[in-house]
This record gives sequence, C-alpha cells and structure tokens, in this order.
Amino acid sequence: MNDAVEAAHGGRAEQISASALAEVGLRYEVDGEIATITLNRPDKRNAQTFATWSALARIGDDLPETVRIVVVKGEGPSFSAGIDLRLFTPGGVPGEGSFSSVLGEGFEERIAQAQKAFLWLRRPEIISIAAVQGHAIGAGFQLALACDLRIVADDVQFCMKEPALGLVPDLTGTKPLVDLVGLPRALELCVTARKVGAEEALRLRLAELAVPVEELDTAVADLAAALLATERSAATATKRLLQGAGTRTLEEQAAAERAEQVVRIRSLFASG
Ligand code: ACO
Repeated sequence: MNDAVEAAHGGRAEQISASALAEVGLRYEVDGEIATITLNRPDKRNAQTFATWSALARIGDDLPETVRIVVVKGEGPSFSAGIDLRLFTPGGVPGEGSFSSVLGEGFEERIAQAQKAFLWLRRPEIISIAAVQGHAIGAGFQLALACDLRIVADDVQFCMKEPALGLVPDLTGTKPLVDLVGLPRALELCVTARKVGAEEALRLRLAELAVPVEELDTAVADLAAALLATERSAATATKRLLQGAGTRTLEEQAAAERAEQVVRIRSLFASG
C-alpha cells in the first residue's frame, strides 16, 4: 500500500484523508446519499497505479452506510488511460517500483489486492455509475466495467489494450465484459484491442446512455436522482436478485424471487 494511504489510516478505522487521496491522484466527495470518486491526474490522463487501487479499495472499505450511489468519473479529456505505463519501465513509479521489481512470491496476491479496488463497486447496497468521457483504456475500461451502469460522452473510446501489451485483462473486467457483449464480441474486442466509440458502445450494451460531453455530469445527476427515488431496501433486494439471475436456473431464480418477496411484503405490511 502507498505510504500516504497507509499513513492516512492511522493503522485503521480512520477515514482516508483528502490529502492522502490527492497524493495518489484521487478526489472523493460524499454529498448525502451520493459519493463521487474522481480520478484526478488529468495531465497523465488519469493513469492508475497500485496506490490508486489501494486508495479505491480503502474508499470502498470506509464507505459511509448512508451512501447509496457511487459515481466514478475522470477529470480532464480522458476517463483513464489505464495502468501507468511507468510500471513497465525499469525506473517504475516513485514509491511503488516497477513490474520487474515485484515479480517474486506474493505477486498474485498483489493482483488480488488491486482487484479489491474494483470488486466493491458491485455491492448490492449501492449502485455504481461510471461517467466516461474520452479514453477508457485497459484498467480504465475495466474500472468502467466494474460499475453497475455506464453513462458515456459522445467522444468515448473504450479499448481493452492488455492483450496487445502481452497481458490479460485482470482487474475484474472480463466477466462483466462477457456478460454484457457475449463471448464472441468480448474475444474480438480484447484480442484486436480496437477502440469502441459511443454509438457502438450503446449497441453492445457497454453503455446505458450516450450524451454530449458537456451534458455528462447532468445526465449522471439525473440518473442518480431517479435511482434514489426508490426506497433503499427494495432497491438493494432487487439488485441482489438480479445479480444472482445469471447463475441460477429458472426454478432457482423463482425461488429467490419468492424469498426476497416474503421479506419485502412482511416489512411493508407487518405494522398494518
Ligand atoms: N501511463 C502513464 N502516463 C500516461 C499514460 C499511461 N497509461 N497515458 C498517458 N500518459 C501521459 C503521457 O505520457 C503524457 O505525459 P507527458 O505530458 O508528461 O508527456 C500525458 O499523459 C498526456 O498523454 P498524451 O498521449 O499526450 O495525451 P493524448 O490525449 O494525446 O492521448 C491517450 C491520450 C490516447 C490515452 C494516450 O496517452 C495513450 O495511448 N496512452 C497509453 C494508453 C495505454 O496503453 N494504457 C495501458 C493500457 S493496458 C492496462 O491498463 C493494463
């Protein structure tokens, strides 16, 4: 974990500080039921490092229970240009080293730690929205895929660049990608590493909505408001139910619907 992020813990329990987040290129604001995480290194196109992922995981760990919507966005012309390419150079990223210096035992665990930054965005208690403008490459594309919903600007360029660099996408993006676009299209997108613009993203279900770039924030705010209009426990139960649908049989899913509904009806009518 990055020293600044570690220091901000004070060992644990304390909220990560704004200055520690700023040091790793993140901004984090909680306004009532909405938390907004902004990748904030626009001069480097919001490239991500291990410190970025440690901090994102910490935000997830410390998320106030009152938060129902998490918006993930990027400052500047790009959502995120993916992993910081300095990690591939001998000099690496100051304070974090390079891939050649972390290859030993424990490297797989290091990847598992990085994946935690992405996995919490699917928790049933929240709905996460990626607001994506410009380039969303590699880890940037995977961060957008980690969110429940994606609103894109009309200049969006999704690209799964990892295979072109000799890697695989390993930041939890392969499952949502296959779930959204199907195996053949996911294979084609990953192995060609081609760019997907807004119109195709909508067609492939990689985005729920595409808007002019200057309308991105408003579109996200409108969606958040519409999502918040539904009572929280009903929204959480519905998300949990829908998330399980892909791996259950029809009969199992019907049973899951019944189980959730019994709880809903009891809570709605218990006092009556
Ligand atoms: N890592 C580190 N620095 C980056 C990255 C990155 N991934 N992407 C951009 N930057 C830096 C550039 O080096 C440049 O820095 P400098 O001003 O100090 O020279 C600055 O950001 C601006 O970059 P430009 O290329 O000038 O910006 P432009 O808007 O023209 O292009 C683009 C943006 C298309 C995103 C381009 O920067 C690019 O292709 N970046 C690399 C993308 C990439 O291969 N990412 C890895 C994917 S694989 C993975 O994520 C696991």
